Amino acid sequence: MSIILVTGGAGYIGSHAVLALQQAGFNVVVLDNLVYGHRELVEALGAKLIVGDTSDRPLLDDIFSKFNVAAVMHFAAYAYVGESVSDPAKYYRNNVQGTLTLLESMINAGVKQFVFSSTCATYGVPKTVPIPEEHPQNPINPYGASKLMVERILSDFDAAYGLKSVCFRYFNAAGADPEGRLGEDHNPETHLIPLVLLAALGKRDSVSVFGTDYPTPDGTCIRDYIHVTDLANAHVLGLQYLLNGGKSSTFNLGNGNGFSVREIIAAARQVTGREIQVVESDRRAGDPPSLVGSSDQARKILGWQPQYADLHQILTHAWNWHLSRHQLS
Ligand SMILES: NC(=O)c1ccc[n+]([C@@H]2O[C@H](COP(=O)([O-])OP(=O)(O)OC[C@H]3O[C@@H](n4cnc5c(N)ncnc54)[C@H](O)[C@@H]3O)[C@@H](O)[C@H]2O)c1
Repeated sequence: MSIILVTGGAGYIGSHAVLALQQAGFNVVVLDNLVYGHRELVEALGAKLIVGDTSDRPLLDDIFSKFNVAAVMHFAAYAYVGESVSDPAKYYRNNVQGTLTLLESMINAGVKQFVFSSTCATYGVPKTVPIPEEHPQNPINPYGASKLMVERILSDFDAAYGLKSVCFRYFNAAGADPEGRLGEDHNPETHLIPLVLLAALGKRDSVSVFGTDYPTPDGTCIRDYIHVTDLANAHVLGLQYLLNGGKSSTFNLGNGNGFSVREIIAAARQVTGREIQVVESDRRAGDPPSLVGSSDQARKILGWQPQYADLHQILTHAWNWHLSRHQLS
C-alpha cells in the first residue's frame, strides 16, 4: 500500500496535515527530529513516527527502500524569523541543505511528487495587497530567503529530473483542529494568536503590540490568518492534484481578509471572556504594515474552499485547544 511521507508531521501544521491525509484515506509515515515537534500528537493520530532528520541521507534512503512512498509532504523547517537573522547558517543548513538532501534521496528512489511549505515571507515588503502569486519575491530575512531557494531548487529539479511539486505560500496559520485533537504549541511562541491566548490564560503577563502608528485604520499591523484545518485540507487537494498528473504549481494560502493586531485582541477578549493586558511598543524592523494574500488560484485550480474563515471560529478553536493543553494539564 502506498504511503505519504510527512516531514515535520509532529509540528503544528504538519500534524493537522497528517489528520487530513488520514481522513482522506491516505496512509502516513512521519519523519520528525522532534526539535520542535510533539511525539504525543503523532501517537494520538496513530501514525508511524520515525524520529530523524531530513539531513540524514542513509536514514532517508532506508525509509524510501522500506516504504512504498508515493509522495512527500515537506513541513520540516525552522521558522523563527528573528533567529534566522542572528543565525542564518542554522536556517540555510536546515531549510535548504536538509531539503536538498531529502530531494536527492527522493530522486534516487524514483519518488517524484512533492508538496512544500513555502511562505508569504518570500515576497518581502509587498507592493500590492492582496498579494498574488506573481508578485515579485524579495525576502527581507534569511528565513524567507531559505524558502525561496527551495522554490528555485524545485523548479530546477522539475526541469532536470521531472520532480513535480506544489509550493504553498502560507500566510499566518492559526486556530486548531475543530474537534480539539491537535493545536498550536510552539516553544518559544512568537505567533500573535497563541500569545494573546496565553495572556488570557494568565500564562503570560501581557501581549506586546509592536507599532501603533502604521498607515492602517487603527495604526496596528494587518495580517491574514488562515485556519490550520483549511491549510491542511489544501495540502490534501495539492497532493491529489499531483497524483492526478498535475504540473508543478505555486499557490498562496490565506484567508483573503486581513485583521489588525488590535482586532485580534478585541476578538480574543470576546471569545475568552477574559481580560488581556496589552503593552504598546515601538515598531519592529521588517514588519510590513499589511500582509494579505490572494488565494484565488488555489480556489480555481485545486477547488479549495476554506471552511473556517471566520475569525471568531479560528479563535474559538484555538482557545479550546489552549484550555485543554495548558490549563487542565
Ligand atoms: N506557522 C505558520 O504560520 C507558517 C507560515 C508560513 C510557513 N510555515 C512553514 O510551515 C512549516 C510548518 O510550520 P509549523 O508552524 O508547523 O512549525 P513547527 O515548528 O510546529 O513544525 C516543524 C516541524 O519540523 C520539525 N523539523 C524541523 N527541522 C527538521 C529536520 N531537519 N528534520 C526533521 N524534522 C524537522 C520540527 O521538530 C517540527 O516538528 C514550516 O516549514 C514553516 O516554515 C509556517
